[in-house]
Amino acid sequence: MTVVIRPAIADDREDLFRVALASWLDAYRDVLPAAEVADAPAMITRALDSRLAALRIAILDGRIAGYYSLGPPDDPERTNYLWHLYVDPPLQRRGVGRALNRAALVEIKSRGNTLAWLDVLAGNIRALAFYRALGWIETGRDQHGHYDLILMQSQI
Ligand SMILES: CC(C)(COP(=O)(O)OP(=O)(O)OC[C@H]1O[C@@H](n2cnc3c(N)ncnc32)[C@H](O)[C@@H]1OP(=O)(O)O)[C@@H](O)C(=O)NCCC(=O)NCCS
Repeated sequence: MTVVIRPAIADDREDLFRVALASWLDAYRDVLPAAEVADAPAMITRALDSRLAALRIAILDGRIAGYYSLGPPDDPERTNYLWHLYVDPPLQRRGVGRALNRAALVEIKSRGNTLAWLDVLAGNIRALAFYRALGWIETGRDQHGHYDLILMQSQI
């Protein structure tokens, strides 16, 4: 199985929207409030409007299988932040997430970092299992904002 990772381009937008919505709902449909779930299509449209070029997409068998994005490169607090990592539900458990994680860490390292961090919703058991399996270590919890988040880090 070969997964190719490349920057997203404008022509990817329609497929990306489909994958982003399906994978977001897959992760959060049962753990976030109904109002947030109902807003998901609009939220993803806004995200693609503002950040499409920052996404790195995984291509498997000629189709978009998932994506990641990092924090802004010029933000010292988030230059090493793995912000999003999502895989299309029908294509999960085939190593796409592993390939995206690897590429994200390479990109974070290319920014001059030796440590990466991320946060995961505490109720997202599957993502926690995924990140633990890939060597990420829990470093704390952030319950101060709107979400209950588990903080994780990875050496690069
Ligand atoms: C979490 C997610 C990205 C994993 O992607 P994936 O492509 O299925 O992951 P991989 O196939 O590369 O799995 C790598 C390893 O992670 C672990 N893993 C992946 N999914 C798992 C699950 N559902 N339960 C337990 N462990 C899991 C396994 O150790 C797996 O290795 P194996 O298949 O050889 O056993 C995917 O389930 C997803 O997109 N979920 C919804 C979005 C989400 O929650 N993103 C994270 C936001 S912080």
